[in-house]
Amino acid sequence: MHLTLQQLKLFEAVFRNNSYTRAAEELHLTQPAVSIQIKRLENQVGLPLFEHVGKKIFPSMAGNAVYKASLDILTRVSNLSNSISELKGVVKGPLQMSVVSTAKYFMPHLLGKFLKDYPEVEPRLKFTNRARVVERLMHNRDDFVVMGQAPSDEKLETYPFLENILVPVAPPDHPLASKKKITLNKLVKERFLERESGSGTRLVFDRLLESNGFHIEPYMELGSSEAIKQGVMAGLGLAVLSLHSLCLERDAGKLVILDVDGFPLKRRWYAVHLKGKKLSLTAKTFLDYILENSHRVLNTEGQC
Ligand code: PGA
Repeated sequence: MHLTLQQLKLFEAVFRNNSYTRAAEELHLTQPAVSIQIKRLENQVGLPLFEHVGKKIFPSMAGNAVYKASLDILTRVSNLSNSISELKGVVKGPLQMSVVSTAKYFMPHLLGKFLKDYPEVEPRLKFTNRARVVERLMHNRDDFVVMGQAPSDEKLETYPFLENILVPVAPPDHPLASKKKITLNKLVKERFLERESGSGTRLVFDRLLESNGFHIEPYMELGSSEAIKQGVMAGLGLAVLSLHSLCLERDAGKLVILDVDGFPLKRRWYAVHLKGKKLSLTAKTFLDYILENSHRVLNTEGQC
């Protein structure tokens, strides 16, 4: 079989996206260019890799086998290139990370300081919600990812670093704002603004409610912590958010942290990658940097 790495890369993207069009967009190619390469790959394999039913595609048995092999081969090639740059001993070049959206309040500060020491590093940060980060993690699409609620999966290597403190917030003129020791029972009677499902922040709050026998229907679902903060300040409802995301508003007196039983919820932030992954020298250097320096850097940057 004469297969090219490019064909395997395209095939992996089509398989993962379940779509020729989305794979073409992701790889900045045209859809016909992707189709031609997949056709050539199918000719080499001698079997169709996808079944076409209406507009949908489904991987065939041969497709599943080629996907498994593609992941293996592409991972080995990426590990090889990491070993080579390690042999060259230079910290430079791409640093690809996916980071949960809430971590945007501290990751740029860590990266900014790191880049002062290593200006030739080319960072590519993708901010998205937890569900998407987990998907990218499982497909080995990044050097490593940063998230609040790391999945418990023995295939993963997780490195805890900063503390992630989650608190309930209200506008300063809310009747609960001046109360002490508010019960969860009282809190859940309020209107709540929640992140979209797939968000790690939402997952933590939902789990807390569930473990106490409560369930709430969010008054509004909003796709970012920024939008939620604005909603809380506008008096639309209460919310549970990571402290990292609301330091400015708290210090300016625009939001208050409520004193509720069971809060603050203390969690950690984690850097995570697949077990056995060989990190590039650049990724390893940045990972070591955040594990060792994040508290010091964020204190000097005034990030609460
Ligand atoms: P989120 O993730 O930005 O998806 O809410 C935060 C977290 O993982 O704790």
